[in-house]
Formats: sequence, C-alpha cells, structure tokens
Amino acid sequence: MTSLNIGLIGTGFMGKAHAIALRSVATAFPEVSAPVLDCLVDSDIDKAGRLAKAWGFARASDDWLAVCSDESIGIVDICTPNHLHKDMALAAIAAGKHVYCEKPLALNSADAKLICQAAAEAGVQTSMGFNYACSPLITLAREMIAAGELGEIFSFRGSYFEDYMASPEVPFSWRCLRSQGGAGALADLGTHLLNMAEYLLGPIADVFGALDTRHHQRRDPPSGEMRDVENEDIAQVLLCFERGISGSMEISRVATGRKCGLCFEISGSKGSLVFDQERMNEIRFYAAGDATGRQGFRTILAGPQHPDYSAFCPAPGHGLGINDLKVIEVRNLLRAIETGTPVDEDFANGYRVQLLVDAIEKSAEQQQWLKVSSLGLDA
Ligand SMILES: NC(=O)c1ccc[n+]([C@@H]2O[C@H](COP(=O)([O-])OP(=O)(O)OC[C@H]3O[C@@H](n4cnc5c(N)ncnc54)[C@H](O)[C@@H]3O)[C@@H](O)[C@H]2O)c1
Repeated sequence: MTSLNIGLIGTGFMGKAHAIALRSVATAFPEVSAPVLDCLVDSDIDKAGRLAKAWGFARASDDWLAVCSDESIGIVDICTPNHLHKDMALAAIAAGKHVYCEKPLALNSADAKLICQAAAEAGVQTSMGFNYACSPLITLAREMIAAGELGEIFSFRGSYFEDYMASPEVPFSWRCLRSQGGAGALADLGTHLLNMAEYLLGPIADVFGALDTRHHQRRDPPSGEMRDVENEDIAQVLLCFERGISGSMEISRVATGRKCGLCFEISGSKGSLVFDQERMNEIRFYAAGDATGRQGFRTILAGPQHPDYSAFCPAPGHGLGINDLKVIEVRNLLRAIETGTPVDEDFANGYRVQLLVDAIEKSAEQQQWLKVSSLGLDA
C-alpha cells in the first residue's frame, strides 16, 4: 500500500490527538503504511505554521477548502467545531478523498444522512472519532456478550459524566450554540455513549429523553457580555433496544468531579460487566452461580491477550491511554482503505448516532416515548 498524504484540519484538543496517532500508527501497527503528515490547517495561520513544524507536517494552511481539493491529499481529517464538519466532509468527498471526522458527524441527522450518502456514492472510506469503542476491553466486552457469557441480557445502564462546564465561570463557546455545537452534552458526550451502547448490544429502537440546562447564561470572552446557552447540560434517556431489553442513560457536562466518566453496567442471567473509562484498563466481571461464599466482581486488567493491546505493550496491567485508542482508530481507517472493508465506526455509524440524538431531543420536546424509526430517516 502506498502512503497517503494527510490534510488535518483543526489544531485544538483533537487535532493534536490525531497528529500524535497519525505519527505513531505505523510504529504500533507495521502492517499499515505510515501516512505522510502533509498539510496542517487552522483558521489561525500562525498557529498552523508553528504547530506544523512542531508536529512534523510539511506545510501549513488556513484554507481548508483548497486542502480538501488538493490533488496530493489522500485523507482529509476533520478536527474542527461541529458546525464545520458538514461542509468540510462534503468538499473532501466531492474531491474523492477518504475522510476521518470527529464526532458528531453533523448538527442534525438530515445533514448526517447527506454526508453519509455522498461518501457511499463516492466510494470513499470514512471513519468517525468514536475512540472509546476501540478499547481492548470494550472489544472483550463485546465478545463476551456475543458469546453468551453474560447469559440472557437483562439491562443496560450507562452514564457519561464530565465537569468541563460545571462552573458558571466557564466562558461561552461554540459548544453553547445550537448553530455551532448542535446539541449540548448529548453531542459532546452522549454520541460516544450511544455509539457504545449500540456497539455492545445492537440498535436502540425507542427512546424517552429529558433535557436540562443548569447554567442558562455564560460570559462571552470577546464582548464580556452574558450570552444565552442554547443547549442542554444534562440529558436523561430511557431506552429500549431492538433485541427487547431496556436501559437508561444519564449524560452530563456539569457532573462536578467527573473527568471522563463514560460508564456502563450490563446485567445478564449469567453475569454482569461494569466499565468506567476513567479506569479504562479495567473491566469488572461478575459470574453468577458460585455457591461457595466467594461470589463477587473480579477485575480483569487489560493485557496482550486483548486485541490490540500488544501493539503498544507486551506486559499486562501496564495500561493504554486515550491517545493509544486514537492510534487504533487510525489503523482501522488505513486498513479499511487498503482492504476496501469499512470500519465499524464509519459515517453510516455517525449518521445512526445522530439519528438517536435527534430522536432523544424530539422525545424530550414532546415528553413521550419515540420510535427512532419514526424520524423517517432510516439508518
Ligand atoms: N473523540 C473525542 O473524544 C473528542 C474529544 C474532544 C472533542 N471532540 C470533537 O472534536 C472536534 C474539535 O473539538 P476540540 O475539542 O478539538 O476543539 P478545539 O476548540 O480545541 O479545536 C478546534 C480547532 O479548530 C480550529 N478551527 C475553527 N474554525 C476553523 C476553520 N474554519 N478552519 C480551520 N480550522 C478551524 C480552531 O482554531 C481550533 O484549532 C469537535 O467536533 C468535538 O466534538 C472529540
């Protein structure tokens, strides 16, 4: 396979994580060709130039549209605020590029569907930034559920708690605007949890959502004025999966003390699994039926027996981190380009998750259960 040139757009939190992953991928996974860090793009050209040098990119630009259609670019990687994903993805797809995009794919499911269809028609490979699903212990959980080790599944309880907006002093940003962030906690955090739930247990059929905003105004740094926050801080959701089991979720960006609390508990007739992303190298498993007085949850530590752990470390219990998950995500995309087989977390999946977000918002507005399929935009 020939190495593909990368055009990476956005140099914030995710831009850096993607740059690290793109640089490391062929070291961890020698079976893929190292991508070429060609052009780093940011609307702030000074920052793009400075970081292009620091991160090992050949050049810098502030013109994302030109980079999307640049003949030398093979993969466009989108790490910008949510409202920019649609135009950037559509421009890259129109120019025949493979596209790697941070979540959420778009601000609503109609736009996500448009992007998804354009990618399918162009025959390009796509990948979403649902990194938590790339974790070795999540792969294990999925295998255990599929193999029946939990028996008949009874329920799913999920939460994703962070506190990055818990303080009222956190300034107003694009994340507070419907036109730039879309939904609030649901877009930032809920998308990961919804993807995780479906990754483990299959499609969600019905939702009942409730949304709440705790801080209704925040100070806008440029003007110093208070501005209205247009989306939710907290979302609560009742769920029904197509396979007939029920579940619930709570998602919050104002959960004081929690930093990356993507958690779930899945209970079944033969056992249960408990996971917390803040302790991503551990999963707790309870096996029912031990009558010896020694029953209890046991902790399984991530190790080389769990794919793709050994690509990073030969010793169990030493632990991977979020940037390693990004490396796995990048390997998945490069492998998909090479083999023509889509990744699990592609744009179809990004659309699917956006459909769920829209359904939860609509259900909360109508204060009633909603069939996801009733949105009329079949995934
Ligand atoms: N997968 C994850 O775990 C995860 C975590 C955080 C953020 N995200 C997603 O990543 C995306 C970016 O979030 P972030 O936290 O990195 O944001 P950020 O604010 O840290 O960075 C955004 C970057 O985009 C640049 N930018 C803005 N407008 C631009 C334009 N027109 N052209 C070029 N560059 C432009 C900004 O200058 C900045 O460098 C969001 O969609 C967010 O939802 C995903």
